[in-house]
Amino acid sequence: MTFFPTVRMRRTRQTKILRNLVSETHLSIDQFIYPLFISEELAKPQEIATMPGIKQWTITTVTEEAKRIYNLGIPAVLLFGIPQKKDAFGSQAYTKTGVIQKAIKQLKKHCPELLVITDVCLCEYTNHGHCGVIQNTFIQNDQSLKLLAKMALSHVQAGADMVAPSDMMDGRIGDIRKTLDANGFSQTPIMAYSAKYASSFYGPFREAAQSAPQFGDRKTYQMDPRNAREALREVELDIIEGADIVMVKPAMAYMDIIQKVKQAYNLPVAAYNVSGEYSLIKAAAQKGWIDERKVALEVLIGIKRAGADIIISYFAPQVAEWLKKDV
Ligand code: PBG
Repeated sequence: MTFFPTVRMRRTRQTKILRNLVSETHLSIDQFIYPLFISEELAKPQEIATMPGIKQWTITTVTEEAKRIYNLGIPAVLLFGIPQKKDAFGSQAYTKTGVIQKAIKQLKKHCPELLVITDVCLCEYTNHGHCGVIQNTFIQNDQSLKLLAKMALSHVQAGADMVAPSDMMDGRIGDIRKTLDANGFSQTPIMAYSAKYASSFYGPFREAAQSAPQFGDRKTYQMDPRNAREALREVELDIIEGADIVMVKPAMAYMDIIQKVKQAYNLPVAAYNVSGEYSLIKAAAQKGWIDERKVALEVLIGIKRAGADIIISYFAPQVAEWLKKDV
């Protein structure tokens, strides 16, 4: 083995050209997904106070934003709906005239090339804010599956290209796969929120999607942040049930999970760079404490280096601009 002074690690760090030549990790806008919030309650777009730079759109104005996103080179969006009416069973989640079903039709009409992925979860649609139906204060698993499968099917029937179940009920990937297949949608992929943790990093999102639970928390269905092996079981079950892409969420505090999943399985891995991760950087940057671009890119590179193929991020439009300028 040779050592210093024969070996000098700094030789390949001398210039930008050399550094680029030996770089191991790259961000490509082709692998970003941008979340979009669509509200039925608004007459015009509205800024989300907890997420600077992010808005809630109306069913008609979301098409303008989608065109901007597509023109920036971002290939895909992930839709979240805020309905006017909420009830115990989240019925607005699976009606033909629901906010998301209408938005999908608009998007596919005005921006057909953009890949439309939908979040499948009841929490934005239930008056109690939980991701499944409730009986005797318990979030019922098997009853919720029927509604989630109905919701996924109605999204695909409206024109969605992919569905992303985020509810964390047991068995939902299998039920959704069966339902889609039985209705002629065997080609529609499922991106499963497989290792989704009960995280406080979702705080700003719940403000944006008006989906905070009205009692208790999500710890009886989302994962315990202390567990890593359990995440591999979750992923494995989703693969068996038919997931095409598996997701780890959040990303920043769970990079070990991203790496483990990537090493253990041979299917694409997505990571969700969630609202709290976004807002932390935005807030510190607004105070002038950090360089927003550099910190955001460093975090996203970290997520990639850990093993994520796909990144879902509120930074996607900025990343598109930053990558164009080759900075
Ligand atoms: C719905 C859902 C949540 C997020 C994505 N889908 C919130 C939650 O589980 O409470 C969080 C996204 C983010 O924080 O950016 N279940």
